[in-house]
Amino acid sequence: MKHEDVVSTGRRIIDHIAQRTLDLGEAPMRVDASVFTDPERLAKEREVLFRRTPQVVGWAGEVAEPGDFLARDVDGVPVLVTRDEDGVLHAFLNACTHRGMPVAPEDSDREGTTGTGCSNARRFVCGYHGWQFDPAGSLVGLPSRPQFPGVDPAEFGLKKLPVAISAGLIVVGLRPDVQVEGALADVEDAFAGFPYDRTRAVVSEKFTLKANWKLTVDINLEGYHIPFLHRATIHGVVLNHGIVDTFGPHTRFAVPILGFEKLAEFPEEHWPARLPMVNVQTVLPSTVLIESPMSTTMLRVYPGAVPGESVIHMTEGTWEPLDEQTVAATRNNHNTNKAVLVSEDFPGAEACQRGFSAGLDTMVVGMGESAVAHWHETWDKALAAY
Ligand code: FES
Ligand SMILES: [Fe+2]
Repeated sequence: MKHEDVVSTGRRIIDHIAQRTLDLGEAPMRVDASVFTDPERLAKEREVLFRRTPQVVGWAGEVAEPGDFLARDVDGVPVLVTRDEDGVLHAFLNACTHRGMPVAPEDSDREGTTGTGCSNARRFVCGYHGWQFDPAGSLVGLPSRPQFPGVDPAEFGLKKLPVAISAGLIVVGLRPDVQVEGALADVEDAFAGFPYDRTRAVVSEKFTLKANWKLTVDINLEGYHIPFLHRATIHGVVLNHGIVDTFGPHTRFAVPILGFEKLAEFPEEHWPARLPMVNVQTVLPSTVLIESPMSTTMLRVYPGAVPGESVIHMTEGTWEPLDEQTVAATRNNHNTNKAVLVSEDFPGAEACQRGFSAGLDTMVVGMGESAVAHWHETWDKALAAY
């Protein structure tokens, strides 16, 4: 966060704590339950918000050096992002052109594993029959070559996808015609000051929830639930005196940590870049970047096979050099976050889904949940424009 942003955010939150207030929307909003249960809506969402909208897949720091790559599941599409020997960034369908097997391992994409799908390689060797690709996607090795007369390796490079770095994040298009350059221009300024160009994933886990993907995003967007759903954990530590800002379709929702107001005792020029707050930055359509003084988390949320299901990839990163101590601390942060998110918020979202699936027909969003309202409006607007 840039210093002027730090100061204005700090002042707003100190003011809210003193007045016992928070940023409010203009009016409560009603959301029809069908947005969580209608299969036709889900199909349209997948097409418009996931296939035609640029998708964040990681931090720029994960592919900073020649040979770096990451292999991730993006709404069910296996994606490989590489930086070749000349420093050029590429993205491909992570599917061998022989018979489709991923050419790079997607460790984080198997449920229950905690790899990151992120590493450094000069060659990608398919595990099925050994075809070899270089980081620029060219087919450079084909075992038993004489058995493929007339098959020109030049035609069998990995299938390219659009990719760019925007606002310090890696953005891909799941279709060749998706415009990714400058995709996150609206948050370029808001994200300045976060060293995403040095941030790397340390641990990532995938979860499947029995809740619509929008409910899975919504759990991150308001502090109204903290004294109730989190009464046994962060209640009393994270305070519902938050601020909400919008940047085009994207949002920042930040809530202070206990003692935030002590900042006022220090000269503003010494306020730290990482304020004592949980800063939840959400990027279209459903990537949530959670920053706190302890933790750097990325949540990538996708629809599941049916409206009442979603998939979430929870990744913990760091911009410190990856020595043993940092890796251990980052893993520890991941486990701490899980104690709240996985143990309390996920079951909360699943319980709400059961209510809507059972016939509750409307969700009401209060004025103190304005980031939730913003996102439901934004998703609806995107679908309506299609
Ligand atoms: S599927 Fe990759 S070599 Fe056969
Ligand atoms: Fe929560």
